[in-house]
Amino acid sequence: MRAKIIFNMNPQLILLISVISCLMVTACQALTDDEVTREWNTFLEKTKKSYKSPVEASRRLAIFKENLQDIENHNALFEQGKVTYKKAVTKFTDLTKEEFSQYINKSKLSQRPKQSKNMFKANPNLTVAGEIDWRNYGAVTYVKDQGQCGSCWSFSATGSMEGQAALVEGRQLVLSEQNLIDCALEEYGNDGCNGGSMDGAFEYVTFYGIDSEEDYPYLEYQYYCRQQGSVFGISSYADVEQDEYTLQLAVAQIGPISVGIDATNELQNYGSGILIDQTCGEQINHGVLVVGYGSEGGNDYWIIKNSWGQNWGEQGYFRLIRGYSACGINLMASYPIV
Ligand SMILES: *[C@@H]1O[C@H](CO)[C@@H](O)[C@H](O)[C@H]1NC(C)=O
Ligand SMILES: *[C@@H]1O[C@H](CO)[C@@H](O)[C@H](O)[C@H]1NC(C)=O
Repeated sequence: MRAKIIFNMNPQLILLISVISCLMVTACQALTDDEVTREWNTFLEKTKKSYKSPVEASRRLAIFKENLQDIENHNALFEQGKVTYKKAVTKFTDLTKEEFSQYINKSKLSQRPKQSKNMFKANPNLTVAGEIDWRNYGAVTYVKDQGQCGSCWSFSATGSMEGQAALVEGRQLVLSEQNLIDCALEEYGNDGCNGGSMDGAFEYVTFYGIDSEEDYPYLEYQYYCRQQGSVFGISSYADVEQDEYTLQLAVAQIGPISVGIDATNELQNYGSGILIDQTCGEQINHGVLVVGYGSEGGNDYWIIKNSWGQNWGEQGYFRLIRGYSACGINLMASYPIV
């Protein structure tokens, strides 16, 4: 709650409060110019970013510096055991909160095209694991990177299809997001790099199947439909009731499940640990893949595969607090039926 209140205040107040809370944290110190420069150079090297002009570069550096100080302050709290996750420099650290929110909004998930005919029903005869991580069962492929294209929905959809290919058919497939971006268009409620939905993608695949990543590689922009063949097909798809416990049952009994979340604001500079984001809401704007769940230090969490590359978060994954319907994780869960 406290963070939410701070979030709504004007910038001067926020600055004042962060200075005060900074004073209360013994380990918290203003970064020296040398430290900022070192981090900035590493950032530029890692992200291979360059800017149009020196003016733009120095504006980006100023934003980066502000974010870096926030990361340092937050991590000092982590060291004191006051927060459950660490922040880190990511490829988004040169963006303001506002710009990150715009980037997320671009990949906006469409509403489900229509309520799916099928709803997940838990099998009462199966026990439900206390913890599960589908990465240990060969049901999750490597972490991909959507880049500038607002195509999170296609990555979330391929993720749960790859999971079912492995778990139901025993096939290790890597499936093509580009196939969905180019071919599963308006009639499925999708708009390429401007957003779409996982259910829309599944609906397309029930008719046409989907090609492999290798045969239909990722471009990071929408192009004309060039689907040649299909390496995987589904008969239908199912939605999961908007309830977190039902989602847990689905993850336990089905495998990786596609979900939508509100990805603003703390994912921008997420580093590791169990994310408790007091500022995210229920405006679903980002498609991701739940690949498991567990508990640590008294907190239950979801293990979530993102599509922001392997250098973001915990090798491309993040953990989100479970049991509080955090960031709307319970609202848009679905999966393919082979
Ligand atoms: C992103 O979308 C949300 C919900 O539609 C809106 O409230 C917010 O202002 C948008 N953010 C930006 C930066 O456009
Ligand atoms: C559960 O087990 C009972 C008794 O063996 C059986 O009749 C029922 O069909 C099973 N349910 C499912 C969903 O498999």
